[in-house]
Amino acid sequence: MTYEPRQIERLVRLLAERHPGAQGLAVDWVPPQTVRWWSWSRYASQSQNVGEWPTFASADLSVVSLNKVRAANRLALAAASSCTKPDGELYLFGQNEVGIRSVGAFGSAGFETVDIGAHGRILRWTGRLTEPQPSLDEFASRRELEIPGVGLCEWKEYPGCFSEGRVDAGTSLLLHALEAVSAPRRVYDFGCGTGIISRVARQRWPFADVYGSDHDALSVAAARENVPGARFVLADGWQLPPNWAVDLVVSNPPFHAGKGRTDDFWRALVSEARAAMDSAGELWVVVQREVPLDPVLRTSFREVVRCASSGGHVVWRAREPLP
Ligand SMILES: C[S@@+](CC[C@H](N)C(=O)[O-])C[C@H]1O[C@@H](n2cnc3c(N)ncnc32)[C@H](O)[C@@H]1O
Repeated sequence: MTYEPRQIERLVRLLAERHPGAQGLAVDWVPPQTVRWWSWSRYASQSQNVGEWPTFASADLSVVSLNKVRAANRLALAAASSCTKPDGELYLFGQNEVGIRSVGAFGSAGFETVDIGAHGRILRWTGRLTEPQPSLDEFASRRELEIPGVGLCEWKEYPGCFSEGRVDAGTSLLLHALEAVSAPRRVYDFGCGTGIISRVARQRWPFADVYGSDHDALSVAAARENVPGARFVLADGWQLPPNWAVDLVVSNPPFHAGKGRTDDFWRALVSEARAAMDSAGELWVVVQREVPLDPVLRTSFREVVRCASSGGHVVWRAREPLP
């Protein structure tokens, strides 16, 4: 999520004045230790209490950090409401650049602005928390998705999962390029989302052990249903089972963390893959054309090949990890 330390300071000060001694629940952000609030997030990178849905009992107030995906915001607000006392309060805060100035209604009510500053706003929901809100199941969608090399599949998703309702163009390019790979034993799908790459891997290499990880609990939950026979874990960053010698690492890696774009994920992916794979292993990655992956791959692998490119995406294959 995108939040500013200066805005968190304003938020904590404002809520301490308005609701002294109240038990708060922070949704999708990490409160300072001084306030002793509960916290929950669907994202492993945003809280210690990570999961599909929060299970806290009755907070006096819940405070949600704005998600740039509008539908994911509704889910976060409904999750927060489910843990807040009927006479409690629901707040939403975020930065102008993420769209806090154009937040619409939630349920039957809108928001009032209670603070402007630190390039953002703090809003208070004006509805009643006794109003019924959708459950997690009601947010799930199941629709048909055409997956390259597999065909039409019934596909489960939640609001905020990557490329909802379609296969991303970069992922699609990668899937076509992967036709050149023959029978790996162990496949790792890093940043697996709802499991599209893993689904193709299961279909194409039925004897391979397929393993995926993602930092979004709801993507992982969907992937577990979408790809029978594969294993998925919730993890912030690279995570493989111990002593699991992987021979194919495949990824359309993330490019965003917090406020902006970051190179950290693909750089970490290259070094982790190099360390985890044996000499016969291969790393296949799709990135946007402007990402300087090539020179970084060449410092870690002996053989680096640009295998495909289209519409601003490039697929790279790297083999023979350097010592
Ligand atoms: C570009 S998407 C690719 C998703 C999926 N593999 C596909 O091709 O449809 C990148 C994925 O990385 C996940 N991600 C973002 N930050 C992460 C992190 N810190 N650790 C693990 N996964 C992360 C996102 O939730 C997202 O599902």
